[in-house]
Amino acid sequence: MEINLLTLCYLLGSVSFIVGLKMLSHPDTARKGNWVAAAGMAIAILGTIFLYSKDGVKLENYGWIFGGLAVGTIAGTLAAKKVKMTSMPEMVSLFNGMGGACAALISIIEFQHLTHPMLVQDNMYAAAGSLDGATLLIIFAGLIIGTISFAGSMIAWGKLNGSVKDLAFNGQQIANNILLLAIVGVATYLVYNISITNYYWFYFITAAAVLYGVLFVLPIGGADMPVVISLLNSFTGVAAACGGFLYDNQVMLTGGILVGAAGTLLTILMCKAMNRSLMNVLLGSFGASSKGEQQAITGSYKEISITDAAVCMSYASKVMIVPGYGLAVAQAQHICHELEQLLEEKGVEVKYAIHPVAGRMPGHMNVLLAEADVNYDSLLEMEDANNEFKSTDVVLILGANDVVNPAAKTDPASPIYGMPILEVEQAKTVIVNKRSMKPGYAGIENALFFQPKTSMLFGDAKAALQKLVAEIKAI
Ligand code: TAP
Repeated sequence: MEINLLTLCYLLGSVSFIVGLKMLSHPDTARKGNWVAAAGMAIAILGTIFLYSKDGVKLENYGWIFGGLAVGTIAGTLAAKKVKMTSMPEMVSLFNGMGGACAALISIIEFQHLTHPMLVQDNMYAAAGSLDGATLLIIFAGLIIGTISFAGSMIAWGKLNGSVKDLAFNGQQIANNILLLAIVGVATYLVYNISITNYYWFYFITAAAVLYGVLFVLPIGGADMPVVISLLNSFTGVAAACGGFLYDNQVMLTGGILVGAAGTLLTILMCKAMNRSLMNVLLGSFGASSKGEQQAITGSYKEISITDAAVCMSYASKVMIVPGYGLAVAQAQHICHELEQLLEEKGVEVKYAIHPVAGRMPGHMNVLLAEADVNYDSLLEMEDANNEFKSTDVVLILGANDVVNPAAKTDPASPIYGMPILEVEQAKTVIVNKRSMKPGYAGIENALFFQPKTSMLFGDAKAALQKLVAEIKAI
């Protein structure tokens, strides 16, 4: 009966993950979806703690279990409450690394459980088949994938908060691939030939996987970082699914597979949005694809006053707002929504053009604007927005830079060449709000700012929008 109840808990947990994930796909239901999946996770955890038993013996070490749960709950809650929207990718990376470490620890503990009798008795014990190949295969897979995900995520976390710098050396890709081959080769040998004389290679594999995770992420910089985080996220899912196989635990398996699949799909979508092939990502050859000298930008830029910008927008029939990282930094989403409402009251049609990698994480702009109650129907995806720029009078760019940089289309030497962009220059007038002429994330100049139809509106996005709103109210 208890086992059946436990199976029911796992079923409820699995279904809640799937329903929760589905609900996450729309802003109206996303918050509830998170709660549904979290409730399912709570049922699965509590079910395991109180209902699991083996040979009639239940779990006993409640002190350790609840101590760990308390530490994790407090740390997770505080981190999630304190984190700024702009630091969210760092937190995702850190938490993902913890998931990878947990999966790797499961493998380490279970390997020790398995090899312990071999060590205290003799080599013959192993030969007698106490270590079956399938179990060892899952243990090694969970160890390698989980450890790479942990080490890689830690480096990604350090890079995003600026404490780890990019590091690449000649032949790094070849060295990485040799290391990976060696890890897989030794692991495969051990799966079939583990014995008292070579079992300690397991720990060398662990160390080598840490090294591989570090070397894999170290050279990756700039615009490819979100792809890597998403890829590592899918690794953690697969490693957790290995734990599910090991413990014959359905909910762990479902959760792991969902994370693995979702991470893989997101990786592919982001690769498309950044024009990188998945193979390019998997081989660890990121970023440095520019050929020759980048095109020099000539000419000068012109500025626009708040008053002129207000007049220009008030008398337009269609305005497209392009939000970017700077909008998130300035926390200007609420005042931006106010501007939108004000213009709409004046009969101006206002829409938002959302680039898939605007900001610093997937869906960054959608979440930011949803927080300010911007109607989801006003958000246009890149392809739709690009079809509408021709009929747009004014494009207002708020703290976006790379995602509107025409070099992605015109300059083969540019590091962002090939990345699809918002083609804002098709509109009649472009107003760019940022604080200076400094470059964006990719560290490159933007020829858009020097085009005749573009005017710069310098200042912090929130302050500039507050002034714009006041000025438009006075018109
Ligand atoms: P960026 O190219 O980074 O440009 C942001 C601009 O905002 C900067 O040029 C900056 O100029 C301006 N800015 C900063 N603070 C501001 C403030 N308080 N008020 C007004 N402007 C401010 O951003 P983007 O166009 O959104 O492009 C995103 C970039 O990040 C892409 O290269 C993308 O590949 C990369 N990336 C994306 C993700 C995901 S998944 N979204 C993750 C990691 C990296 P000033 O300093 O002159 O103000």
